[in-house]
Amino acid sequence: MKVKILMVCLGNICRSPLAEGILQSKLDPRYYSIKSCGTSSYHIGSKPDKRSIDIAKQYGIDITNQRATQFKVSDFTTYDYIYVMDSSNYQNIIDLANNDYEKNKVKHILNELHPDSNFDVPDPYYGGKQGFDDVFQMINKACDNIALKLNKPA
Ligand code: 4NP
Repeated sequence: MKVKILMVCLGNICRSPLAEGILQSKLDPRYYSIKSCGTSSYHIGSKPDKRSIDIAKQYGIDITNQRATQFKVSDFTTYDYIYVMDSSNYQNIIDLANNDYEKNKVKHILNELHPDSNFDVPDPYYGGKQGFDDVFQMINKACDNIALKLNKPA
């Protein structure tokens, strides 16, 4: 059975598609399945934002085949780890959890870099290109730590 990891943001077109593509690039697909989704229904079925596609491409990662989906309660059962990009995503998901076991699967992705700090990956949607580069760098560093942790022998 593969380890299943879900990356979550609001729209599933800017941050979490980057997180999906970046973590996929660091883990063996034979053992890990990584997907992303949004808490909102705003962009269901859409490709990632062109600015996310462009910044990923600049670092050798192709996210063009992703299509936005919305988080659903059954994802608590499907996934082993759920990483949210910000505190608003965290609250939205926690509100849907049925019990503490499900709640404990949900983590702030930047806590992998700054433990217990609950820092946000800022929403780059209304900003410029630099914001997408900044977001890429943060998510990339967090995913380095996630990959290190997961690849540790049990
Ligand atoms: P994301 O960015 O949550 O990183 O995908 C956003 C994309 C779209 C919207 C907000 C945030 N929106 O309001 O449409």
